[in-house]
Amino acid sequence: MVNKDNIKKEDRFYVTTPIYYTNGPVHAGGAYTTIAADILARWNRLKGKEVFFLTGTDEHGKKIQEAAEEKGVEPKKFVDDIVAGWKKAFQLLNISNDNFIRTTEEGHVKEVQKLLQDLYDKGLIYKGSYESYYCIGCEQYLTEKDLEDGKCPAHNRVPELRNEEAYMFKLSKFQDELLELIESGRYCILPEIRRKEIINFIKDGLEDVSVSRLKENVYWGIDLPFDDNHCTWVWPDALWNYLTGLKGEGVFDKFWPPNVQLMAKDIFRVHATIWPALLLGAGCELPSTLFIHGFFTVNGRKMSKSLGNVIDPVELTNKYGSDSLRYFLMRNIPFGYDGDISEKALVDRHNYELANKLGNLVSRVSSLAEKYGLEKNTKDTDLSMKVERVEEFMNNYQFDKVLNEIFSIVDDCNEYIDEKKPWEDGNKKVLYIVASKIKVAAILLWPFMPNSSEEIARTFNFEIKLENLKKPLEISQVKKAKILFEKKEFSEDSGKIERKKNGEEKDSKDKGEGVVDFKSWQKLDLRVAKIVEVEDVENSEKLFKLVVDIGREKRQLVAGLKESYDIEELKGKKCIVFVNLEPAEIMGIKSEGMILAAGKNSRLLEPDEGIGLGSKIE
Ligand code: MSP
Repeated sequence: MVNKDNIKKEDRFYVTTPIYYTNGPVHAGGAYTTIAADILARWNRLKGKEVFFLTGTDEHGKKIQEAAEEKGVEPKKFVDDIVAGWKKAFQLLNISNDNFIRTTEEGHVKEVQKLLQDLYDKGLIYKGSYESYYCIGCEQYLTEKDLEDGKCPAHNRVPELRNEEAYMFKLSKFQDELLELIESGRYCILPEIRRKEIINFIKDGLEDVSVSRLKENVYWGIDLPFDDNHCTWVWPDALWNYLTGLKGEGVFDKFWPPNVQLMAKDIFRVHATIWPALLLGAGCELPSTLFIHGFFTVNGRKMSKSLGNVIDPVELTNKYGSDSLRYFLMRNIPFGYDGDISEKALVDRHNYELANKLGNLVSRVSSLAEKYGLEKNTKDTDLSMKVERVEEFMNNYQFDKVLNEIFSIVDDCNEYIDEKKPWEDGNKKVLYIVASKIKVAAILLWPFMPNSSEEIARTFNFEIKLENLKKPLEISQVKKAKILFEKKEFSEDSGKIERKKNGEEKDSKDKGEGVVDFKSWQKLDLRVAKIVEVEDVENSEKLFKLVVDIGREKRQLVAGLKESYDIEELKGKKCIVFVNLEPAEIMGIKSEGMILAAGKNSRLLEPDEGIGLGSKIE
């Protein structure tokens, strides 16, 4: 397909992040998704595509109205201040977005009103009423099934039971079409586990959804064009940003629809149902792919203001640099999976992988090249297999594997230089081979760590272009590189942002070997689960790959149960899963948790049938 500018679809790339709520300052979760989108944008630019990368802020709704009221500030003034912080943070993180959309912009407001009028005129919006649970934290409707002990599990608060006159969108009308689009992969949802989840959700039945609020309840929203007493529910308003954000002459025609939209699982249901239904209703093409990544905890606990373990990406960037934070987030958690982060883990990776391995290599080779020079030797510099693997992992959004591959080049270089010892004989050919490999690593690293990559390119005098991966490095006068990564100390003090605000220590004091105090025990998240899928792990005598349902989500894990159970025997069994364990890779398979078993024959600990999936063991 070719558009007006004669740009073929495969030559352009449109990527989006969610737009973030402006009830508070920039959060590490938002930084995480936006860094991932930035990596995709930069990678596609590197490949010569024309890219549009959109991020921004979601500025309406009850949650923001309440936050502004609490501060005693007009909502618009309140969001203006917060948005300035988000924009600054994204600059600091080296985010290369092409637009930053704000839902309070006049152009956006008008387009949302046009959409609603259009759907109303088509009979897809009608006046009715609804009764439903609503969590203001999520700004989403919840079903009975979503609640845990009567509360929204994400926000640990009792949702409102709303019963209100409202304008309803005929979501139910799109049920079969959506199912077909998702099942056929035309509306592609990744990872597979999320696709299955949403298929089951849609099969349970989609109900019409309210798209308005009475102004007497929520006034901070876009006025409904056909009823002065109502304003627009925040979600249709927010979702439409993906269209209104494509600002500029011909930009929409050139880039619509998105190639990939990134988000976490918290907002995936809305994006897999209401969002495509609105587009179908409006007659717009659907995005190609939604990629749903996981959620991270901090030191094993959900990030929350009340726990005081909210990680501030600006503070971390100021301390360790944007490249370190970008690298850490992408390497530490396999994209698509839940994971855990901590400042200590960041400092470890910064020191060990960035300063010791990459930084030292660049520093050693550049200073030797400055002294002895380089001599062309294209033997042994071919890294095309590694480049191919990087491409493959990039296409599958496996950013951690991309980084593993790139760092294997760095490791090879360090080993090679240690073996050849060019500082003893000033061997210029050896230096050339290593410099050539550093060039490849640096080009591939650019989407992840643009600052360091550009510094390496300046040092060895090459341009960051994909074609330069294959072209031999030109001989030039090399100057010793600037220090890329200063080593950092991690002290309890530097970890203060992970501590409770009331001064309580992050880790309880050591009570002696083998003794776990109460606070440590509370950190363990053990849940009642059900084994829903079992697969053999080839070449392993002990392992099975399992998918377990832990209530709110499904997890993949690897367990050594082959010697104790048959595949069929395990399916459907209830069990207990340790869910906040750092994800691991076992025989190349991601494992997101540990199943509890005991005894010589590793028998599962089976909870009572009456205990619901996802119930916490306390
Ligand atoms: N405003 C809505 C989205 C509207 S999009 C049309 C919203 N905003 S949010 O500020 O709550 O951002 C949610 C998103 O932030 C998640 O989907 C995810 O991209 C990111 N994250 C927030 N916390 C996160 C973690 N702890 N871990 C990973 N990502 C998380 O929802």
